[in-house]
Amino acid sequence: MIKKLLFSLAFTSCLFIKASAQQSRESQIDMKNFIKDQFDFAAKQYGYLAKNTPSDRMPKTYDKTTGKSETSSTKWWCSGFYPGTLLYIYEYTQDTSILNEAKKRLNILEKEKHYTGNHDLGFMMYCSFGNAYRILKDKKYISTIDTAAASLSTRFREKAGVIQSWNSTSKFQGPVIIDNMMNLELLCWASKTTDNKKYWEIAISHADSTLKNHFRSDFSSYHVVDYDMANGKVIKKLTHQGAADESAWSRGQSWALYGYTLMYRFTKDKKYLDQANHIAKFILTNPNLPADKIPYWDFNAPGIPNALRDVSAATINASALLELAQYNKQKRNHYVNTAKQILLNVASDKYKAKLGENGGFILMHSVGSMPHQNEIDVPLTYADYYFLEALHRYKNWYL
Ligand code: GLY
Repeated sequence: MIKKLLFSLAFTSCLFIKASAQQSRESQIDMKNFIKDQFDFAAKQYGYLAKNTPSDRMPKTYDKTTGKSETSSTKWWCSGFYPGTLLYIYEYTQDTSILNEAKKRLNILEKEKHYTGNHDLGFMMYCSFGNAYRILKDKKYISTIDTAAASLSTRFREKAGVIQSWNSTSKFQGPVIIDNMMNLELLCWASKTTDNKKYWEIAISHADSTLKNHFRSDFSSYHVVDYDMANGKVIKKLTHQGAADESAWSRGQSWALYGYTLMYRFTKDKKYLDQANHIAKFILTNPNLPADKIPYWDFNAPGIPNALRDVSAATINASALLELAQYNKQKRNHYVNTAKQILLNVASDKYKAKLGENGGFILMHSVGSMPHQNEIDVPLTYADYYFLEALHRYKNWYL
């Protein structure tokens, strides 16, 4: 009797294991095809974007009401995303015409390695040249990144232990925005690659001061902390792009999630991992996160559930969660499945453009800055960039 019971138990478990293995194989195959479709589409769609972008400019956005594309100079904080996205597309498709377009744009961007006008060097020079080095292994890109790290380091303020994001204005004395966490990738990578301890110390100091000063007790982040850089004291905490000083601006939460995840990648310091997990919890359990996991532009936006979504926050979250999943055994499935859900949702007709439309951008419906009425419900370069980065990560780590 017991023998029979054991046999039937073993048989049922075998069937169960086989069924779930098959189920997971099926979803893997689906994701493989899904990812291929997205990159094939991106390759074609970015052909339109290239045509819409003069050779000395970078794409910025597209206005569907006027049908006009907007471009930027290479000094704009987003100038690294277009070459970076092209490089992800090239890496997947091996299409050399896309590589040539990426190289042309890297050429016009390279001079910005000397830029010291704000903190955005990481976005500009690492998303572009970091990917170029990773894929092409040309050593000249290391020196470009190293120079950019030196330029960014000029904005470090000893007393407050932070990199100053923007110069003083009538509104801010020594502003540091949560977005700045993203620039630490440039510093950490350059430090490890060129053995420069100063960049490392600056990155750790900035991450620690931000951890101390930028977060509320629920692990949501303020957008701006204004410092008195002469004595290092915090003057005030407020917003620039969010709905209110005490609100949680969605993309800010995404930058924080991505930023502390990358700090754990480089340092293996558990406090950064804990912080990233706390931020993930704030985002993913937030009652104002819609069911499709594409955040409203602010978690406290007026008019929810009729507020606009920010697809860029969603794709940054997807990419960050895929990395954070690597460092968490227990939450791994939760993070990967959530990222997968985000990727599938942003690729639906609701958020993804049709071929040849949307000015050549892949995704629609992001928000640049609501308080400034700038880039409202439009495509943005970084929504596309983190979408493809997340697909790249999914393919490399979870297929
Ligand atoms: N770093 C600027 C933004 O996220 O809008």
